[in-house]
Amino acid sequence: MNSAELLRNRAENNTPEVDSGATPLARHIERQITATGPISFGKYMELLLNGAKLSDGSHIPGFYTQEYVPIGDKDTAIPKDEVAFYTSPERTPLFGMTASSQILEMYDILGQPDDFRIVEMGAGNGTLAHDILHGIKYFSQRHGRDLPKLRYTIVEQSDTLARKQKSRLSQFNEFPKEIVQGSSTDLPLGRITGVILSNELPDAFPVELVRKNADTFEQMYVAAGNEQVFAEVWQSPTEELREFLDVHDPHLHDNGVPYPYNKGLKPWMREISRVLDRGFAITIDYDELYTLCGLSDERKVQTMRFYAPGIGDVADTAGMEHILSKKFAGKGDVTTGIDFHLLQRMGQSAGLKTEGYTTQAGFLFSLGYHGLKRDIPRTYPHGVGDRRFRNYAFLDEEMLDPGFKVLIQSKGVSDGSHLTGMDWVITSEKDKKFFTPLPGQEVTVWEK
Ligand SMILES: C[S@@+](CC[C@H](N)C(=O)[O-])C[C@H]1O[C@@H](n2cnc3c(N)ncnc32)[C@H](O)[C@@H]1O
Repeated sequence: MNSAELLRNRAENNTPEVDSGATPLARHIERQITATGPISFGKYMELLLNGAKLSDGSHIPGFYTQEYVPIGDKDTAIPKDEVAFYTSPERTPLFGMTASSQILEMYDILGQPDDFRIVEMGAGNGTLAHDILHGIKYFSQRHGRDLPKLRYTIVEQSDTLARKQKSRLSQFNEFPKEIVQGSSTDLPLGRITGVILSNELPDAFPVELVRKNADTFEQMYVAAGNEQVFAEVWQSPTEELREFLDVHDPHLHDNGVPYPYNKGLKPWMREISRVLDRGFAITIDYDELYTLCGLSDERKVQTMRFYAPGIGDVADTAGMEHILSKKFAGKGDVTTGIDFHLLQRMGQSAGLKTEGYTTQAGFLFSLGYHGLKRDIPRTYPHGVGDRRFRNYAFLDEEMLDPGFKVLIQSKGVSDGSHLTGMDWVITSEKDKKFFTPLPGQEVTVWEK
């Protein structure tokens, strides 16, 4: 049968295409749904990101557990079309180096303890860890002070990325370091004095999608669909989701826009509070306000984003089409912005005090990003970071992306400590709408 005949035959018999290009992960999810019924969107997202463990001990990889995880890495010059996304540390070493000066200030506030720990959760290629350690060496030397006695711990869920992080940090013999495999929502750590930080971590926690239909709430489930795509079905919400809606009353759009209920935020805040004996938590991520405000009214239908090599960033309806496509299952990142105001409230309930909340631009500028930019060419070593520096040090646009926010929380620290990174909330006039200040907080408008 030639291909025209095959097509005609298929159309007449209404038979689906045999090879839809579905990934092994999509096939596994189909089998699971056939056996036990539709799965919640949160469960589906978790499978897409982390893959599935089978009863015989084997593993079908998801986006973060595949052999090569395509997070942009300028230092190894991976071609652009093989990259799913770049994060801020992957664009310039100035990001991590600037953050290291905030960490040093925290070390001083804590009284330069002998057992100072830095814990980074969800460290990707290990680039931020590399730049923070380099920054600590750089600032210690520049200010004529002893190197802090610190230990750097990464908590990483993906074994593939854990291996990459280990090799990226191998050059720092001055500092003890360790990579612990586990989840930041169930931290495999005892109590520490120090700083717990993350960049773009909670946006990778699975979310449940909930929408308002007239006066009732509905939760999204994923059904088997057809050969090419899974189907969305809406059912009444679980008890857990109802409880969340009752307690937090998130702003749900009447137009049916799904709200992403991030299931990991609460246990994550609880875990940080449990582990932090004395110290600070720094969270950097993009926020939900940005996701929603970035879309015009008629496009306000979607809160999920999809990033994959050769495809880039797809949001909105097209984002969801990609997320439900069987040929992309496990091949791309599925993510959504963080509600930082909710995160602060959850942190407070867990015993964490909000020290400050600002834009990424405010954080970096307050800590002297521009001065560092002038100084750095003479001090950055060749090797890791050199290529990033040459190509991207002057590309400020990404660093000033209005979506990115910084939250600092603390526990066991006396009131009134000054954190330089929280000095300014800086944004441009046009981006002002992307920042909701805390009560009494001033916003400085800066034009490039
Ligand atoms: C968007 S990437 C950000 C990577 C890195 N922080 C950066 O800025 O380049 C998310 C990272 O978090 C990790 N991750 C996702 N969920 C996690 C969890 N529950 N616990 C620990 N790591 C997690 C992923 O494997 C990945 O390393």
